[in-house]
Amino acid sequence: YGCAMNFSDSEIVASILSSEGYSSTKVMEESDLILVNTCSIREKAEYNVRQRLRIFEKNKKKGALVGVLGCMAERLKKKFLEEERLVDMVVGPDAYRDLPNLISGAEEGEKGVNVFLSKEETYADIAPMRLDTNGISGFISIMRGCDNMCSFCVVPFTRGRERSRNAFTVVAEARDMVDQGYKEVTLLGQNVDSYKWENPENGEKVSFAQLLVMVAEVSPLLRVRFSTSHPKDITDDVLYAIRDHHNICNYIHLPVQSGNSRILDLMNRTYDREWYMGKVDRIYEVIPDCAISTDIITGFCTETEEEHKDTLSIVEYSNYSMIYSFFYSERPGTLAAKKYEDDILLEIKKKRLSEVIEVYSKVAFEVNQKDIGQTFEVLVEGISKKSDQELKGRNSQNKMIIFPKKGGVAAGDYVNVKVTEASRATLRGICL
Ligand code: 5AD
Ligand code: SF4
Repeated sequence: YGCAMNFSDSEIVASILSSEGYSSTKVMEESDLILVNTCSIREKAEYNVRQRLRIFEKNKKKGALVGVLGCMAERLKKKFLEEERLVDMVVGPDAYRDLPNLISGAEEGEKGVNVFLSKEETYADIAPMRLDTNGISGFISIMRGCDNMCSFCVVPFTRGRERSRNAFTVVAEARDMVDQGYKEVTLLGQNVDSYKWENPENGEKVSFAQLLVMVAEVSPLLRVRFSTSHPKDITDDVLYAIRDHHNICNYIHLPVQSGNSRILDLMNRTYDREWYMGKVDRIYEVIPDCAISTDIITGFCTETEEEHKDTLSIVEYSNYSMIYSFFYSERPGTLAAKKYEDDILLEIKKKRLSEVIEVYSKVAFEVNQKDIGQTFEVLVEGISKKSDQELKGRNSQNKMIIFPKKGGVAAGDYVNVKVTEASRATLRGICL
């Protein structure tokens, strides 16, 4: 669990293991091998994983092998393997090809560890096995690692250096998804805008904007999304690609983290408040109906009340359609953990977080009101959660729209829906 990158990694692992003859099961008791993919970003992530691993002790007693994958591998390998003896193997994000080998070792009773971080591994040639899929939307990972050094973030340490995947394998994977009936793909990376790949055969370079267009051209019926964009790297070319291609979605996830320039500097985000606002202006200028979402951290080291207010005002300024907000939690090994004191009281961090959410709720409600009366192309995902008489789907802006069932309309179809009602989180409408 964790981010989409992590989910996409699980699909790579499943593919590697399936070529070794493994198949997946939903029945825990049946499993001979249990792998937990871990994320280190969230507070309590470590605690949750431990709880999870304790549950598997039963299976272990019956002979199942248990392994920990992903971002926690490096830091907790010793604890999990030796001190607590919770697992048989610990495998870092760049070592999944070694899994079959580590598994056979573990079968012989050898504890398996590989947390080596690579400068090259992109799993470019591995066709992911789609897990937990609705058969309509899926992910393609286009790069790994991150070279930014945001001071709060563990990713550069857990996932290593940034490297971009062969563009042709990305396109081939998209084509494969279309052949399997997929209608939507999200290109994934920690910082997709710094994607760059050079064809070793002719030295031709592919930028992210070019890759987006290459994928969009696979099929007009395949929607293309991407995440995450770093405000410092997103270019006009990316905005033009969105504007000029109907199937590249009008939606940008543009984490701001803080609205205050001093805090942004401490976070090492390499842009300031004005620069971010300029980016937001530029997006709405080039793509007037674009939706923007963001990530926010409240209560970063030394943040004052005034500085926090700058975050509230940037939420209003940016008219976000969605925010993912977190209170700051010090992650071991990060620059912030080394350099700054985590000095904001938890209560204050939480109070600021709830203020961010409150402002966002107001903003999102107002933003959504503007959609009333408009007609959107919606990709139907299935029956709505609340009523089997209603369908749900998303528009290009990534907003969920609920509408009454209509004869002949099924999951995977594109339909036009006119919005009649809007709340903070959902739109309702009628299928035309
Ligand atoms: N504390 C709180 N939130 C964090 N994030 C990353 N690291 C931390 C941390 N140490 C948030 C950021 C990032 C998102 C994926 O998680 O907002 O964009
Ligand atoms: Fe972490 Fe910053 Fe890289 Fe995102 S861009 S993964 S927040 S270091």
